Amino acid sequence: MILVVGGAGYIGSHMLKLLRDQQEPHVVFDSLENGHRTALQSSLFVQGDLRNPDDLKRAFDAYPEIDLVMHFAAYISVGESVREPGKYYNNNTAGVLNLLEEMKSRGIGKFVFSSTAAVFGNPQYVPLDEVHPKGPLNPYGHSKLMVEQMLDDYDVAHSFKSVCLRYFNAAGADPDGVLGEDHEPEEHLIPVALLAALGRRPTMKVFGTDYDTPDGTCVRDYIHVLDLAQAHLLAVRHLRAGGDSRKYNLGNGEGFSVKQVLETTEKVIGREVPKEYGPRRPGDSPKLIADSSRIRQDWGWQPAYPDLEQIIDHAWKWRLAHLEGFGD
Ligand code: UFG
Repeated sequence: MILVVGGAGYIGSHMLKLLRDQQEPHVVFDSLENGHRTALQSSLFVQGDLRNPDDLKRAFDAYPEIDLVMHFAAYISVGESVREPGKYYNNNTAGVLNLLEEMKSRGIGKFVFSSTAAVFGNPQYVPLDEVHPKGPLNPYGHSKLMVEQMLDDYDVAHSFKSVCLRYFNAAGADPDGVLGEDHEPEEHLIPVALLAALGRRPTMKVFGTDYDTPDGTCVRDYIHVLDLAQAHLLAVRHLRAGGDSRKYNLGNGEGFSVKQVLETTEKVIGREVPKEYGPRRPGDSPKLIADSSRIRQDWGWQPAYPDLEQIIDHAWKWRLAHLEGFGD
């Protein structure tokens, strides 16, 4: 059985859907601080917080058949992490340490970890492959890189096997329209643009127009949330087959500037996105584009939804059907 920590969140809930489709036994552990009960659907659920070891014990005691853990329960806002680093280190790093210690005490040594492109920081070259030097520009990236280091050390000391999946920019939604991206406050580019186009915000800000990129705005590699979930499934199969620890970059290998994303959004939704151009947001990397050839070669991972227009269209369909988000 898989313990899905943070399964009520954006990426976690898409993962749950895939696990249900695959009839893969699983139970969710989530504090519901940012997750949504509605997103859990029929999955088993334990409410608890990673920062509280007793909550973790309760979950593992209730489901002794857990043999593998996936972790999605992180704070994810780059900007907020610069303003409140302690919040990020406490949950994203110390919380995961609690989880690893609990797993170790029970002899559970298989872990799939949601890492991030933010571990790279300022790129020395793009696309970024796995061996590119690491240098986070913000506490969020540091909080995740520290866990990567902990996982290396646990492997050496305890033969603990992990797969770190370094997401580039997760976006889109399941096309069946039930699941979507609903953060409070919402800070990610595509959902923010959609909310602005719907008049749910007076305008949106473009953070920085003076980067060393073709149009001066930041470049990112947007990857469909279902393609991320699929990579997790491959990681589960690898670990269950006795595979060794791995780290993979996950993106489509194509960069889009903020301006390009907004133009594409306007084209897909047929509405204008009201926007203002403002200063840079502290902690932002100018350009993050993935080289995902390693996971493609090793596991045959192939994005099913690589097209940015389709990614935005799926996000838009969900937002139109859920103007108030999940409402819980
Ligand atoms: N942006 C704006 N205005 C907004 C929101 C975002 O201009 O209102 C810009 C950002 O400055 C950035 C780009 O749009 O250049 C993308 O920003 P997001 O906040 O959507 O995403 P980030 O790139 O900051 O971070 C995301 C995830 C992280 C992940 C990271 C890896 O939130 O979890 O991608 O690149 F680590």
